[in-house]
Amino acid sequence: MTQSLRPLIAGNWKMFGTNAFASDLAGSLADKMSEAGNDVADLLLCPPTPLLGAVRSSVGDERIALGGQDCHAAEQGAHTGDVSAAMLHDAGCAFVIVGHSERRADHGENNATVNAKANAAQVAGLVPIVCIGETLEEREAGRAVDVVTGQLRSSVPKGSTALNIIIAYEPVWAIGTGKVPALDDIAKVHDAIRSALNDVSGDAESVRILYGGSVKPNNAIEILSLDNVNGALVGGASLKADEFWAIAEAAF
Ligand code: 13P
Repeated sequence: MTQSLRPLIAGNWKMFGTNAFASDLAGSLADKMSEAGNDVADLLLCPPTPLLGAVRSSVGDERIALGGQDCHAAEQGAHTGDVSAAMLHDAGCAFVIVGHSERRADHGENNATVNAKANAAQVAGLVPIVCIGETLEEREAGRAVDVVTGQLRSSVPKGSTALNIIIAYEPVWAIGTGKVPALDDIAKVHDAIRSALNDVSGDAESVRILYGGSVKPNNAIEILSLDNVNGALVGGASLKADEFWAIAEAAF
């Protein structure tokens, strides 16, 4: 891991949970955080929008940030079912995931959409976590690095800084499958992302690059110790306090 960058362990709860579940999970993590003090990674929870309030009250004053899973590119308007970046900010969020492959696939989002959402998030004072990643077909064709760096250059607003952008590399075929790329392959893509960041940010060395895709307690240490892996975006394992906490401990 790039030692100077404080690791971030983010939980993407996707479309799971109830208010009771959210209070319980966030409350357990807050208890662990309070015992751990400062010697732990930065933690971020991204629950479904209706559960933000429950998570917010359960984490209390503990150092656990809140994030949304998506936002609309517009400030406000007639967009039934969507939420704006400003609404997430108002609900206590400091971050928002944009361009997750499930949104790219389920909602037809492309790099231009993701760029507009990331920009809206920055304008509203949120830090967008821009997700990029290749499909299995693209990897097998030897195109992983090209695809991922292409997505990066088109999805990340130009002029982004370490304070207002985070990148998450999530190979589509590794999400929810238990499959993880070889460590060398993760390292290669993260190194390529770091170089390509120079095209969109004057701050490339300081931007945090998270790895996501089947991160579990049993593989977290080896993944998180790679150069240019500055944290993780965790799906399934973020729904269990003990597993998520074990990953957070592996990061520090
Ligand atoms: P899993 O950790 O369940 O593979 O999900 C990864 C992910 O999509 C996080 O955004």
